[in-house]
Amino acid sequence: MNDITHKIGLWYDEHRRDLPWRHTRDAYRIWLSEIILQQTRVAQGLGYYERFVAAFPRVDDLAAAPLDRVLKLWQGLGYYSRARNLHAAARQVTAWREEHPEKSFPDRYADLIGLKGVGHYTAAAIASFASEEAVAVVDGNVYRVLSRLFDIDTPIDTGKGRKTFQSLADELLRDAIGQGDGRASRHNQAMMEFGALHCTPTQPKCATCPVGMHCLALSAGTVGERPTKQGRTSVRERRFIYIIYIYKDKLWAHQRGAGDIWQGLWEFVLLEGEDLPSALQERATLLLERKHQLTHQTIHASFHVVRLPDDEEPTKNAAIQSLANDYRAFTWMEWQQLAVPRLIDEANKRLSAWF
Ligand code: ADE
Repeated sequence: MNDITHKIGLWYDEHRRDLPWRHTRDAYRIWLSEIILQQTRVAQGLGYYERFVAAFPRVDDLAAAPLDRVLKLWQGLGYYSRARNLHAAARQVTAWREEHPEKSFPDRYADLIGLKGVGHYTAAAIASFASEEAVAVVDGNVYRVLSRLFDIDTPIDTGKGRKTFQSLADELLRDAIGQGDGRASRHNQAMMEFGALHCTPTQPKCATCPVGMHCLALSAGTVGERPTKQGRTSVRERRFIYIIYIYKDKLWAHQRGAGDIWQGLWEFVLLEGEDLPSALQERATLLLERKHQLTHQTIHASFHVVRLPDDEEPTKNAAIQSLANDYRAFTWMEWQQLAVPRLIDEANKRLSAWF
């Protein structure tokens, strides 16, 4: 055990990536980076992190911003509940500070875990990186590293698995701290970075592994089978037909409501699970067809443009049954300011030619 944490620590000192959130102890910035990096690759998250820090240097700036501005800045990252939670949590922190005037942002696990969008992993990451609190982080990388080193076949997506890996990770952290071999932040980041760069999901670099001599999966020949998962949740297929009505140089759109993907983002008139209405078939121009993959859903989308003549007011047109009250008309300039899902943004790139 001792030798494992020691060697992974040394590996980290030599190979760690130089990332902006590794140069700060500011819990606010570390929190921003962790929320952005949930379900997002570092290369993609970097630019978003820089833009968020620039737009909202302190948590008060974020709390004071309108949600629409936060969503717009988040555009393209996906999983927009993260942005809504980010905004809600900033407001929670503002309230929390009234009882903790000496702190600018919570940096202890117990205070962090109550924030919107902050689960066990994220609270442990922020607390250890910002204040050296001794809580072990277990993310996907750490699951993989531990399951291989100790050749554990307990599925990681079960209660038993989470418990097993968490207690192993806690033990390794105690070890690292006990040896005086690094602080909680260095150890936790080392384990994650080692999984991200060296002990990778496919083609791990076992031939040059600093802890290969301790790796039980390597000697058992099971590296490729670790970690194991119990079951993949099934993927739901959905068919979206978007109709882009253009009337007097404005397009019609609405903001998506609660209870489904893309809550609060803007989109065109949507018909789900239907065919293009026959009344529109001759008037619509196909703009784009796209398959859009989300974690648990595959969306087959098509976009159709219908330019209405000046004497055909959309809300009065019988052929356009679907224009409910919540649809609004936007100029092209206005439309580009709104936060939209990535799928809609792809259609926008082609749609500019229509204005
Ligand atoms: N993914 C999640 N948190 C990270 C961090 N602090 N550094 C690199 N990748 C990460």
